[in-house]
Amino acid sequence: WREPLIAPSLASGDLARLADEARIVTGGSDRGADWLHVDVMDGHFVPNITFGLPVVRSLARHTSLPLDCHLMIEDPDRWAVDYAEAGAYNVSVHVEATGDPIALAGRLRAAGARAGLAFAPHIPLEPHLGTLAHFDTLLVMSVPPGFNGQRFIPEMLHKVRVARRLVDAGELDVLIEVDGGVNLGTIGAAAAAGADCFVAGTAVYGTNDPARAVRLLRAKARA
Ligand code: DX5
Ligand code: ZN
Repeated sequence: WREPLIAPSLASGDLARLADEARIVTGGSDRGADWLHVDVMDGHFVPNITFGLPVVRSLARHTSLPLDCHLMIEDPDRWAVDYAEAGAYNVSVHVEATGDPIALAGRLRAAGARAGLAFAPHIPLEPHLGTLAHFDTLLVMSVPPGFNGQRFIPEMLHKVRVARRLVDAGELDVLIEVDGGVNLGTIGAAAAAGADCFVAGTAVYGTNDPARAVRLLRAKARA
C-alpha cells in the first residue's frame, strides 16, 4: 500500500498571489497538499514563461510545503543546483536537456535536494533507465510540457507501469510522479498504474475550493 501524495501545481494559481495560493492548499487540522509543484518555464525549452529562481527563493520563505521544482528550462546543468540551494525539496530536470544527468543528480543531492528526472511524452523511458537509477524521483509527463489545462495522455501510463514493476522488483528506487491533466477523472488510472505522487494544476486551482480539491483527489487515488 502506498499513500498517494498530492502536489498542486502553483502555476495554475493566481501568479500575483503565490504565497496565498500556497497557503490555501497547505491544510490546517486536516491534511492538505503533500508537496507544492513549481513549474519553472523559461520561454526557450518551452514556449511559455512562468517564474524563475528569484521567485522560488522568495516562495521558500513563505511556505512550509516541500517545493517540487520542475525545471522546463534550457541548460539545467547551469541552474538546477541553485534551485536546490534556494530551498527546493525536489528538483526535476528533463533528461534531454541536461548534458550530464548523472553528475547533476549528484550535485543536487550534495546541495541537499532530491534529484528528479523528467520525461516529456515524446521521450521514451527505456533507453534512460540506467540514468534514472541515479535519481530519486521519476516525473512522467502526461501532457506536452509548457501549459496547464491540457488533456491527459493515457498512453503515458505505460512509463508508470514499467517503472512501478522495476521499483517493486527492487531493481529501481524512485518515487513515481505523474504530471499533466490529472483530475478526478484521470487520477484513478494513474494510481492504478502505480504512481506515488500526483501533480494537479487546473484540477486544484481551477476550482473554488482548492483545499477540498486536494482531499477529493487523494481519496480518488486511494480508491
Ligand atoms: C505542464 C506542467 C504541469 C501543469 C499541470 O507544463 O508541467 O505541471 O502545469 O497543470 P494541469 O494539471 O492543469 O495539467
Ligand atoms: Zn510540472
